[in-house]
Amino acid sequence: MQISKASEAVGAIVEHVDVTTLTDAEFADVQQAFRDHGALFFRDQKLTPEEHIAFAGRWGAIDFNRFFKRRDGYPEIAEVLKEPDQQLNIGGGWHTDHSYDEAPAMGSILYALEIPPSGGDTLFAGMAAAYEALDDGMKDRIRDLKARHGNAHVFGEESPYRKAVGDRYTNADQAGQTAVHPVVLAHPETGVKGLYVNPGFTLEIVDMEPAEGQALLQELYDHITQDRFHHRHVWREGDLAMWDNRSTWHYAMNDYQGHRRYLNRITIEGGALA
Ligand code: SIN
Repeated sequence: MQISKASEAVGAIVEHVDVTTLTDAEFADVQQAFRDHGALFFRDQKLTPEEHIAFAGRWGAIDFNRFFKRRDGYPEIAEVLKEPDQQLNIGGGWHTDHSYDEAPAMGSILYALEIPPSGGDTLFAGMAAAYEALDDGMKDRIRDLKARHGNAHVFGEESPYRKAVGDRYTNADQAGQTAVHPVVLAHPETGVKGLYVNPGFTLEIVDMEPAEGQALLQELYDHITQDRFHHRHVWREGDLAMWDNRSTWHYAMNDYQGHRRYLNRITIEGGALA
């Protein structure tokens, strides 16, 4: 097994390994790499849905996503699909999965089954590197702040985005959860500080005048969206990507009109964030 940095800020590429046959010692190395880099990209996997589920199960209990269409016969697996005649993709903006939950999913494991001939890359951003690069004044300003996250504007009945995504999203009536989390999150396992707000699901800074809160969020987003905090994953069929939702953002590019892109995602349960 070979593990090499994908970029300075986030991610590592894992090669020459079959995730279905990892020994306990190899799995421990993979877990350490996940803690160190926040995202892993395994090349050349050949997974059945059962093997995808079994690998996910080694990380923790599976968080059954309530809004993505599920793969037939496999409720653990959410489908990330765009057909050639569909315009809008899923996840086409910076976000981190499930930040609207009280106990957001720890991680997501995405397996590439069908990739367009070009385009359809996914961008990742490292929240620890972005936090570390803030100046001391900003670090002081945000140190004790909390932000409210929500999902109705994405998955709810009235969401124009959900309407455009169509039946690839389900259970609109179950949307509406909100949750409050720290803006600066000490990672639950490593203690490393990172930013925990995202354009997809963060609604507001708690106890701050709305215009001021939105301006602050925008300032943080402008900082995080600098290329120096990113890795661009160029997918190949058989890639398995795994990311930590507490320390990364991701963004699925929608630049492959007329082609099919089909991936399977499993999310792993996490705990409440303090
Ligand atoms: C997602 O946001 O989970 C989907 C990412 C992707 O399709 O690359």
